[in-house]
Amino acid sequence: MSDAVFFTDADFEQYRTLIYNESGIHFTPTNRSILESRLKERLREKSLDSVKKYFTTISQDKEELKNFLDSITTNLTRFFRNQAHFDAMEKFVVPELIKIKKGSINQTIRIWSAGCSTGEEPYTIAMLMSEILPHPWKFEIVASDISLKCLMTAKEGFYAESRIVGIPDNYLAKYFDKVEGGFKVHDDIKAKIRFDYHNLKNAAGQRDLDIVFCRNVIIYFDEAAQTGVINRFWDAMSSKSFLFIGHSESLFGMDTKFEFVKTEWATFYRKFV
Ligand SMILES: C[S@@+](CC[C@H](N)C(=O)[O-])C[C@H]1O[C@@H](n2cnc3c(N)ncnc32)[C@H](O)[C@@H]1O
Repeated sequence: MSDAVFFTDADFEQYRTLIYNESGIHFTPTNRSILESRLKERLREKSLDSVKKYFTTISQDKEELKNFLDSITTNLTRFFRNQAHFDAMEKFVVPELIKIKKGSINQTIRIWSAGCSTGEEPYTIAMLMSEILPHPWKFEIVASDISLKCLMTAKEGFYAESRIVGIPDNYLAKYFDKVEGGFKVHDDIKAKIRFDYHNLKNAAGQRDLDIVFCRNVIIYFDEAAQTGVINRFWDAMSSKSFLFIGHSESLFGMDTKFEFVKTEWATFYRKFV
C-alpha cells in the first residue's frame, strides 16, 4: 500500500464526517496522522488494501463500525487520576449529598463514570465510596464506554503490575488479590459497578444520578458535540447533583445551566435546581 495514495483529502473528509456523526469525536487536519495510522492498523487486521472499500464496509456493517470507532479512541487512564477530584468527593461532594438526601427513603448515591476506558476510574470511585460512605448509605456505579475492548478489560478487573501505580498500599491490600503478573479487583467491588456499552452521542437512558464523572472524554469533541453531551448529563442528573470533567476541560462559554464550584480541593460543576 503506497502512502502517497493511501488516504486522500477527500477520504479524510469522508471519514472524519462519519466519525463525528457517529461519536462526536472531532479529527482536525492536525491530528489526521493519528487517524491514518489507526486506519492502517485496522485495514491490516481485516486484510484490506483500500480505505474506500473499508469506508463502504463500515457504512453498511454496524458491528464493524463499532470496531472501527473503538480503534480510533484514546483510552489513556490510571487509578486515582487527578487525586484532587477524589479529595473533593470525600471532603465536599459526598458529605453534601448525604445532607441533601438525608430524608429520602432510598439512601443510595448513584454515580456514572462516562467514558470509563479500562475501568481504573470506576474502580477508584468504588474503593473510595466503600471507604467513606457511612452506614446505612449505599452506592451504585454505572460505567460506560464506546470501546468494547476497554469494557472487556474493565469487566475482567485484572491489572498488570505496571498499571497499579497510584493505588495507595492499604487500598491495594484491601481491594485486590495478587495474581500472576498483576492484581485482580475483588468481586464485591466489581459487584458495585455495572459496565455498559454507551455512545455519548445518544441519550443517556439514565435518571436521578447524583454524581457524573466524564473526565478526559469531551476534549476529543468539538463544541457542538460537547454541549450536546453536557446537556444530556443535565437531563440524567438529579435536581441536586455534581459533575466532574477533566482538569484540561471546561464548560466556560458553553450554553449550559451547570454552576461552576471552586473548593479548596478541586473545581467541578453542580446542578442545583
Ligand atoms: C482518555 S479516556 C478517559 C478515561 C477516564 N475517564 C479517565 O479520565 O482516566 C477517554 C475514553 O472516552 C471514550 N469515548 C470517546 N468517545 C466516546 C463516546 N462518543 N461515547 C462513549 N465513550 C467515548 C474512549 O473510548 C476512551 O475510553
